[in-house]
Amino acid sequence: MMLIYLSGVERIPLLEVKALVDAYNDKIMGTRGRIVLVERGEFVPRLAFSKMAGEVICKTTRELDLPDYFKVDHTGFAVETWGVKGKESLKMKIRFADKIKGKPNLSSPKEVFDLVIDGDNVWISRRVWENDPKEFMKRDPKARPVFNPTSLKPKLARLLVNLSGIKPGERLLDPFCGVGGILIEASLMGIDATGIEIDKRWADGARKNLDYYRLKANVINADFLEWEDGRFDAIVTDLPYGRSSKLKGDMETFYKNAFKKMEKLSKKLVVMGPMDLSSLLDGWELDEVVKMRVHKSLDRWIHVCSR
Ligand SMILES: C[S@@+](CC[C@H](N)C(=O)[O-])C[C@H]1O[C@@H](n2cnc3c(N)ncnc32)[C@H](O)[C@@H]1O
Repeated sequence: MMLIYLSGVERIPLLEVKALVDAYNDKIMGTRGRIVLVERGEFVPRLAFSKMAGEVICKTTRELDLPDYFKVDHTGFAVETWGVKGKESLKMKIRFADKIKGKPNLSSPKEVFDLVIDGDNVWISRRVWENDPKEFMKRDPKARPVFNPTSLKPKLARLLVNLSGIKPGERLLDPFCGVGGILIEASLMGIDATGIEIDKRWADGARKNLDYYRLKANVINADFLEWEDGRFDAIVTDLPYGRSSKLKGDMETFYKNAFKKMEKLSKKLVVMGPMDLSSLLDGWELDEVVKMRVHKSLDRWIHVCSR
């Protein structure tokens, strides 16, 4: 069993895990606060809105009665706590280190044990994956060769891809791909990604950005509303918001036309927009709508739809 520790208790982190559990035919064994237990969890390295994941070893009390697993030598281990801070965290780490066989190595550990507080209980897991913010920084819009102010942060782009439940080898379309924020994350996860962008500058920019990370995706310089091609396992996109984008007619009509067109291309759609778009998505079943704070003065609505 795998324990996943979510980034927070809001809906988004749990929705991301649930979408991937469904996609990988995995099973949720329990959830409480920021803790989610899943049967296998092979998808965990994909997660954007979780902190870490590990194989569950045992559930014990804060006294840390350890099973025989810890009687064999674990020299080179490190220990981390989740859900307690300061002195309490230190006390637990020392208690753990006293009870486990072997010497710790904090600078380059061979294995990391996580003590995850769940009320009066403590889950102990062996770390399999940890979310590394430095990896996301490397793909930040400002770190890419071609910058566009509307481009998505990699963490958010990855979330959108994951909410669609698309898997490696499957086909994704971003019909408004800009300089490729979504294409980069999809391609990194082994997904076969196609992007459409009306503005040649940004289409070229997306290609340059993908090349920079040695990633492959198909970028087409075209107007999505006039483009005819293919079938996709999911459409994942961040809509144009007017002003800087070349919109045809008013925004609502443009969005409606785009959603109609998307119906022909896929059965799954994750779309982010500047407002609640539920009333414009006829033809689509709305599975989830979540309002998300992107920063202090900017909210975005994420819609997960199917047909
Ligand atoms: C919000 S931006 C997408 C940003 C992108 N997700 C990224 O991370 O770079 C929307 C993009 O849609 C493009 N766009 C606007 N109308 C379009 C159309 N009819 N067909 C294709 N692209 C269009 C705009 O030029 C803009 O680059």
